[in-house]
Amino acid sequence: MLRSRVIGCGGYLPENTISNADLAKKIDTTDEWIIERSGIHQRHIAADGELTSDLAAAAARSALSDASIPSSEIDLLVLATSTPDNTFPATATKVQKMINMGSGLAFDVQAVCAGFICALSVADNFLQTGQAKTAMVIGSETYSRILDWNDRSTCVLFGDGAGAVLLRAQNNSNLSEDVGILSTCLHSDGDYYDALYVDGGVSTTQTSGYLRMQGKEVFRHAVEKLSTVAEEALCDAGLSIDQVDWLVPHQANRRIMDATARKLGLSDEKLVITVDKHANTSSASIPLALSVATSDGRIQAGDLVVLEAIGGGLVWGAGVVRW
Ligand code: ACO
Repeated sequence: MLRSRVIGCGGYLPENTISNADLAKKIDTTDEWIIERSGIHQRHIAADGELTSDLAAAAARSALSDASIPSSEIDLLVLATSTPDNTFPATATKVQKMINMGSGLAFDVQAVCAGFICALSVADNFLQTGQAKTAMVIGSETYSRILDWNDRSTCVLFGDGAGAVLLRAQNNSNLSEDVGILSTCLHSDGDYYDALYVDGGVSTTQTSGYLRMQGKEVFRHAVEKLSTVAEEALCDAGLSIDQVDWLVPHQANRRIMDATARKLGLSDEKLVITVDKHANTSSASIPLALSVATSDGRIQAGDLVVLEAIGGGLVWGAGVVRW
């Protein structure tokens, strides 16, 4: 049976950072409020003219270097983003050219904060069915461009960044342990379309609009749906929570991540947290966290890793990966 094995991870964060104290000079907020409610200390913000494609290409190059393979070996590029460079074509095709991927297929997936899990699942299906051999899966966002910087209930929570994971189809029949993506589970419920949305778009206002969120409503759904879908993905893989080495959640809010880990019965030490330094980078947050936790040596070959995310739609999902 073909499995999608992770062969490299990479990340990119724009140079410019904005601290909570910097924000408190412009809007009515405090460092204490932001840390207590979200766990966020700072966020990275893209420079003028620095686009989602630039962040994505930098993360992809970093993943290629981690895997020590040339870009010409990639035959599928899936980019998760809700802040594309242009309405069309897919930003993925620009990244395809920027990293000199050559031939192969590149397209975008739009599922907001759950975008990376959806893109990973799509790429996994291509690899498992033999439609591609080596896939670059990227999450890249420039949320600073869709934030209302006068709305203190949203603008303090988000940041810009990109992360990338390289997958390769591998036959595991000779291995003693099943390695790679073991399961993915995805769900959505359009009843909550208005809980988290952008108040513009091509077909509605012909402007890009600003992010609007019913924070309490999103919070209420997040812990329940994330813990349930993580258990579902583990069950599909024939595994249980006590076998998990690392939980790498979408980095939306420290309180959501802590509460989900508690509900799953996982100890704090198994939780990978980057929201303090990166804030919520939407589809980029999981691959960015993976690149941090693999490069600092926490995630090792053989570890069982659970990924999970929820975002606008609402869309939510989880994946189970044996590293
Ligand atoms: N600084 C200071 N005060 C603030 C700020 C701020 N930045 N933002 C809001 N407040 C005030 C509010 O105006 C309100 O004041 P009031 O009581 O005088 O009316 C008070 O703080 C409490 O506001 P709430 O909205 O009730 O605060 P809450 O405890 O719910 O925290 C938060 C808000 C952090 C957004 C929380 O609801 C949350 O974490 N929601 C989850 C949403 C999330 O993480 N979204 C990310 C995108 S979706 C995803 O990725 C999962």
